[in-house]
Amino acid sequence: MVSKQEAKERIVKFREIVNHHRYLYHVHDRIEISDAALDSLKHELKELEDQFPEFITPDSPTQRVGGKALDMFKKVRHAAPMLSLEDVFSEEEFFEWLERITKLSQTFGSPTSANFAEVGLPIIDMFGELKFDGLAVSLIYENGVLARGATRGDGEIGENVTQNLKTIESIPLRLELQDALPKHLSRHIAAIERARSEGVIEIRGEAIITKKNFARINAAQKKKGEKIYANPRNLAAGSIRQLDPAITASRHLDFFAYDIVTDFGQQTHSEEHELLSLLGFKSDPEAACLGSLNEVSAFRNRVAKKRDKLDYHVDGIVLQVNDNQLFRTLGVVGKAPRGAIAFKFPPEETTTRVLDIQAQVGRTGVVTPVAHLQPVRIGGVLVSRATLHNADEIERLGVRIGDTVVVGRAGDVIPDIRSVLKDLRTGKEKLFHMPINCPVCGSLVRHPTGEVAYRCVNKKCPALKREGLYHFVSRKAFNIDGLGPKTINVLLDQGLIQDAADFFELKEGDLMPLERFGEKSAANLVQAMSERKRITFSRFLYALGILHVGEENALLFTKYISISYKLKAKSNKISELILILTGLSVDSLKEIPGVGEKVAESIYSWFHDKHNIAYLEKLDKIGIQVEIPKIQTTDLKLQGKSFVFTGEMEHMSRDEAKEKVRAFGGGVSESVSKKTSYVVAGSNPGSKYERAKKLGVVIIDEKEFLQLISN
Ligand code: IVH
Repeated sequence: MVSKQEAKERIVKFREIVNHHRYLYHVHDRIEISDAALDSLKHELKELEDQFPEFITPDSPTQRVGGKALDMFKKVRHAAPMLSLEDVFSEEEFFEWLERITKLSQTFGSPTSANFAEVGLPIIDMFGELKFDGLAVSLIYENGVLARGATRGDGEIGENVTQNLKTIESIPLRLELQDALPKHLSRHIAAIERARSEGVIEIRGEAIITKKNFARINAAQKKKGEKIYANPRNLAAGSIRQLDPAITASRHLDFFAYDIVTDFGQQTHSEEHELLSLLGFKSDPEAACLGSLNEVSAFRNRVAKKRDKLDYHVDGIVLQVNDNQLFRTLGVVGKAPRGAIAFKFPPEETTTRVLDIQAQVGRTGVVTPVAHLQPVRIGGVLVSRATLHNADEIERLGVRIGDTVVVGRAGDVIPDIRSVLKDLRTGKEKLFHMPINCPVCGSLVRHPTGEVAYRCVNKKCPALKREGLYHFVSRKAFNIDGLGPKTINVLLDQGLIQDAADFFELKEGDLMPLERFGEKSAANLVQAMSERKRITFSRFLYALGILHVGEENALLFTKYISISYKLKAKSNKISELILILTGLSVDSLKEIPGVGEKVAESIYSWFHDKHNIAYLEKLDKIGIQVEIPKIQTTDLKLQGKSFVFTGEMEHMSRDEAKEKVRAFGGGVSESVSKKTSYVVAGSNPGSKYERAKKLGVVIIDEKEFLQLISN
């Protein structure tokens, strides 16, 4: 049995150690002892405190969780209002703000320097930081110990959520200087120490949830059939406003401090950031002083670029006058300080309504359901449609016509529907069923067993032709600038083209009368077409739009052909190609490494259709020349090997890496299977990495990949 005195000393020691490791881990992401060791320290501390409850203090690590559920939150009045920020969305709006505050500050006679000369404005030094997408909270430390935590509420009155905020491990329960103050801050030491030992210190910041926890929690909610949170901000708010702190604790929130309300005599906002971190808070790692317009825009670009890789959601940057005196003098308009703004990024996700779901027929006859949306801006682009891919996806999402949905842009390009806000249903929503007849030609739509796709059975369906033409000119096929779907529609409707070969016969005089063309654009298009008459075999094959022959299969086939063709052919003429291609049997096509039976059959039947041969002859007649690359057999060291790439590479882009693999005779696939030879994992690898691990596929990093392709 330990004596009372010993227990007291041990409790103090344990607290210090646990707190130290908490700080290292939750504020600096550093681990010095294992979870198990830390848990056992916490456990021992708890036991001692149970024995000697008189030594429990509110800042003990054991006091983070375990509070009882409340009936309601108490209201609290903020000592100084918690303001919000004015939003700007463009450089123009930012300049307007800058001009406004510069003029105001000149009337106050505040010092400026000449760096903003680029736009005729003298600069006011700025401080830039991340705008976290969470919930603003205020923390009050009395005599250095966390005494109260509150939400913003209406800015004047918030709710007391102390118990819940205590569960956030990156919030210190006691303020302690983590390091000696650097010279330029040392003049504040007396004021800080006084406030820390016998006064009040108020800190403000953002309670957030990491992207990973957001996904984890929503997955669990879904499994339980409970509410799905539309975004991390809602989830952070929902977790802080839980009456039962055990639920808040299970959400593993995090906290970034961005403001010290208490006046220690700090003169700039950047000093505040330094002090926050010295006081043990996690503060914004990107935050920086910005002394010129160039620096402001470089800062914004840097954050925009990094944003996807950050662990937490950031919806913009906050720019604020760095000089605290000037910041105060500029004052407040409405509920926002004049001296700061939120320069928001275009949203990555937003909500809108599904006005209709329509079936669309693609170039291979696949019928795809497409959601027609109430137009919304996402990432700076107006989105009014989103593909729903197939009937399975509609089922998975449970989406109905009339639903309110969350839409984003996949890889920031293609709009997609992420989830349905079913709570907002009115009962008037309608189910969508895949059509029995093709919406374009009325023929039957087939749903072969074992396939997700629905297909129009009519090989001459006009939709196939139209989509086939879009495909022919697309970037990875003939890549013809200035010839998009709209122009193709006009050309078809005017009867100027029947098939893709007709594109090459268009004259300036045919185009100029059309609405979309002037003299110059017509000449440009004719010129572009004639420049594209020579094309590589793989692009050509891809452009033909043969079922199952995408970019990858086209490349595999090219490699095979390049070997046999080299022996037989003498020119780049399509007529010679036809001879070779029609001579291939399904069996010989199946032997091409990486080409399966389905693909072989599809290629075979395409080249044995007399309409297709006539089409090829037409392309030959107008002078299309197809180049077969020479492949040196000595270079094929990756032959028979298949690669999947995931994550980001440091030394080359993924496309470059894929090119390398192909150049050495290997294949590249987008999905991992047991047959995959290597998964190359860059930084932040995605689900392919997990799948590779599960299937026991060899995983290599970028360095190992580079070794593989070098000598
Ligand atoms: S400064 C005067 N800095 O944005 C208001 N706010 O739209 C002081 N926010 O309510 C806020 N990150 O919840 C500031 N680095 C940051 C921020 C930030 C996120 C939130 C905060 C505020 C809202 C204003």
